Amino acid sequence: MKIKIAPSILASDFSRVGETVKKLEASGADYVHCDVMDGNFVPPITFGAQMVRAIRPHTSLPLDCHLMVLHPETHIEDFARAGADIITVHVEACDPAALFPKIAALGVKKGAVVNPETPIEKVFSAVDAGADMVLVMSVHPGWGGQKFIPETLDKLQALRNYCVKRGLPDFDIEVDGGVTEENVGEVIAAGANVIVAGSTVFRAPDMAATIRRLRG
Ligand code: DX5
Ligand code: ZN
Repeated sequence: MKIKIAPSILASDFSRVGETVKKLEASGADYVHCDVMDGNFVPPITFGAQMVRAIRPHTSLPLDCHLMVLHPETHIEDFARAGADIITVHVEACDPAALFPKIAALGVKKGAVVNPETPIEKVFSAVDAGADMVLVMSVHPGWGGQKFIPETLDKLQALRNYCVKRGLPDFDIEVDGGVTEENVGEVIAAGANVIVAGSTVFRAPDMAATIRRLRG
């Protein structure tokens, strides 16, 4: 199964984001992970669709937009028009399956996200509703640079087992938060194949080598 690396620009210098995404592309990243925070669903505020629009001309990599916002339904169209390729919405903020038709109609891939304290079964209906991806949070959303929560491994495994049972063995399972070169092997073994990495990629002396090693 293909492992995809999705560096999060949350850990990057926001004053140089155009250069950053070009460098990510040259370093072998598969997606650009955009952490959108609204100051309500999570305490911090990061950026919105305007940032996605600004990044868009600087890379051909898919823009993977993780919406940590209340009322995601009111923002989907803006992100789609700004150039998002994938939009993921939290089960703690909405019923993702109810938004999927709207996201798909805008020509964007759709996904559901679960927080660490939310049972993994809560995303099963999103898989059944035709999600293109499920994102399993391995830290509490809101901040980069946190420590990986080990209980996530069982959730990844349970989700992979569910997908296999549903005849979707290659379903994209994304993991987000605290992934390092040391724990990425376990994370992949548990069933994740789309790996978000913020601090690990942006702290690396050699970004391309780190992205290569994150493939497990
Ligand atoms: C947390 C974000 C993550 C975060 C990951 O709310 O969703 O994408 O940036 O950062 P690291 O890899 O540093 O844990
Ligand atoms: Zn994220």
